[in-house]
Amino acid sequence: MSNYHIKHLEEYYQVYRKSIREPENFWEEVAEEHFLWRKKWDNVLDWDFTKPEVKWFEGAQLNITENCIDRHLATRGDKTAIIFEPNSPDEEAEHITYKQLYHRVNQFANVLKEQGIKKGDRVCIYVPMIPELAISVLACARIGAIHSVVFAGFSAKALSTRINDCDCNMVITADGSYRGAKTIDLKGIVDEALESCPGVKTVLVAKRIQSEIIMKEGRDTWLQPLLDKASNQLTAEVMNAEDPLFILYTSGSTGQPKGMVHTTAGYMVYTAYTFKNVFQYKENDIYWCTADIGWITGHSYIIYGPLANGATTVMFEGVPHYPDFGRFWQIIEKHKVNQFYTAPTAIRALAKQGSELVEKYDLSSLKVLGSVGEPINEEAWHWYNDHVGKKKSPIVDTWWQTETGGIMITPIPFVTPTKPTYATLPFIGIQPALMDETGEELKGNQVEGRLCIKFPWPSMARTIWGNHQRYKDTYFSAFENMYFTGDGALRDEVGYYRITGRVDDVIIVSGHNLGTAPIEDAINEHPAVAESAIVGFPHDIKGSALYGFVTLKDAGESRNHDNLRKEINQLIADRIGPIAKLEKIQFTEGLPKTRSGKIMRRILRKIAEKDTSNLGDISTLLNPECVQDIMDKAL
Ligand code: PRX
Repeated sequence: MSNYHIKHLEEYYQVYRKSIREPENFWEEVAEEHFLWRKKWDNVLDWDFTKPEVKWFEGAQLNITENCIDRHLATRGDKTAIIFEPNSPDEEAEHITYKQLYHRVNQFANVLKEQGIKKGDRVCIYVPMIPELAISVLACARIGAIHSVVFAGFSAKALSTRINDCDCNMVITADGSYRGAKTIDLKGIVDEALESCPGVKTVLVAKRIQSEIIMKEGRDTWLQPLLDKASNQLTAEVMNAEDPLFILYTSGSTGQPKGMVHTTAGYMVYTAYTFKNVFQYKENDIYWCTADIGWITGHSYIIYGPLANGATTVMFEGVPHYPDFGRFWQIIEKHKVNQFYTAPTAIRALAKQGSELVEKYDLSSLKVLGSVGEPINEEAWHWYNDHVGKKKSPIVDTWWQTETGGIMITPIPFVTPTKPTYATLPFIGIQPALMDETGEELKGNQVEGRLCIKFPWPSMARTIWGNHQRYKDTYFSAFENMYFTGDGALRDEVGYYRITGRVDDVIIVSGHNLGTAPIEDAINEHPAVAESAIVGFPHDIKGSALYGFVTLKDAGESRNHDNLRKEINQLIADRIGPIAKLEKIQFTEGLPKTRSGKIMRRILRKIAEKDTSNLGDISTLLNPECVQDIMDKAL
């Protein structure tokens, strides 16, 4: 397995250098030795960041599900592929072997075909964390349909926007979902969303909570009876390397979410290769990533990366605090989890409970701990290291994005010495650059700038669905010939990277990317609101929380402010989802603006952060007088 599994630091440097010097040879070797191809490529890489256009393994043919399932059958047919751990600890876990997964994916894929879904069609998957979610994703990939998974915590409006953006004609959903002590009426949300989605002809409904729901005649069908009748055999569709595999939406600086398009071969090679190395996965290990499959972390590191390596991957339906805050630790003990991958926001929430609950469970199976989604603060890092890893399981602080498809900057456990709050070194094949505001690259160490990537990597998103110009403008226009990440970072004296946070209008709340514009759009829909501006401020558990400055049309004197706050948050929950609700809402007489009318968020951010000692020169503002008033009334 040359170069496939890195085991010590010297080897990392050696392989890294090779991957930079001869990227095409390097990735060709990885692709050649570890995957199943129907036909090999004619060309490893074709790229031009000015168009931008990137093609990996062109000419190759494959099906990713043959790599994730079929090829394991001979040697791992009875090995567990997926462990489904339900919301309630009283419900039994389900172990799905590779052979069973093969049959279930085939049945599902046959149902999709019978329902008229063809290669290239878009299928929206709005399903909670139950096995049908992973199986429907793989079933789409098996027949070449493009899956568009929408996180099942998004509102009806957010769902309909995503369905319409990529013209899905089918939605897969469930009657409802469990989330801790709550049940959620998913089908009701789908019904509401579909009122504005005329293109959707079919809705397949999985049964999960056994609730009474309305099935619309001619459109809605229960899934199980169809699966029961379907054959469990199906030859996978032959896909070209650059055929789209999926669309996944991420927030941007305008109200319209960006449908990032990921393609087949490069995505498979990179997610599989990173999974193997970043988690040092060994045969028979039990790997658990707590993310939802509705996010990129779940796509790449619950489904595709682990399954491409024949791993056992845990899917957890519930939440960290139900029935109590020991649930994660109980699951680790129960399934003897070896690699555990979660988010800083969860770590902070669990750390807040003290260490008693962690000590109660046997966590001795753990070998590697992972963190993803936002910067991990020093306190959380140490708590994770001391109480969960008992100082013997390295923490991999993995930096990456929906757009990058796979992990980009990360330690390799037992290889890269870790450093709290640092994502450390670029992964194999990744060429980061830090840029200053004038567009010059900052060379050498001990520098801080905007994080860009200089050279293509196999799993990068290829475009934004239906809007290539926006893809170019967002990622390839800020710096010449570079992919711009939207993040700031610093490089320390030994070349380790630390991500300092977003430098654009995206705020990360509890690990979720939220664009300020769509939230402001939602607030501005309120009839009493004249205008609004959202900024982030530090929060103990969420990392950042949202602070809204809202100007009312008639100064709002006649209205009860607490009621208005509730109505505004309800609007946000309806338009986007509860995750985007504001922590604080301050009503203001005006918002500070430049002479060209642009809201000066920098000033508002400082006020929200309670750091008003140095607001900079405000005399050039159009309305400097409003700043003092906002400061006086800050929450
Ligand atoms: O700001 C970075 C932050 O999350 C952003 C990407 O969010 P999303 O596309 O939702 O993907 C999250 C899961 C890959 C990045 O631009 N981010 C992600 N991981 C880290 C991070 N910030 C600091 N450290 C990380 N490890």
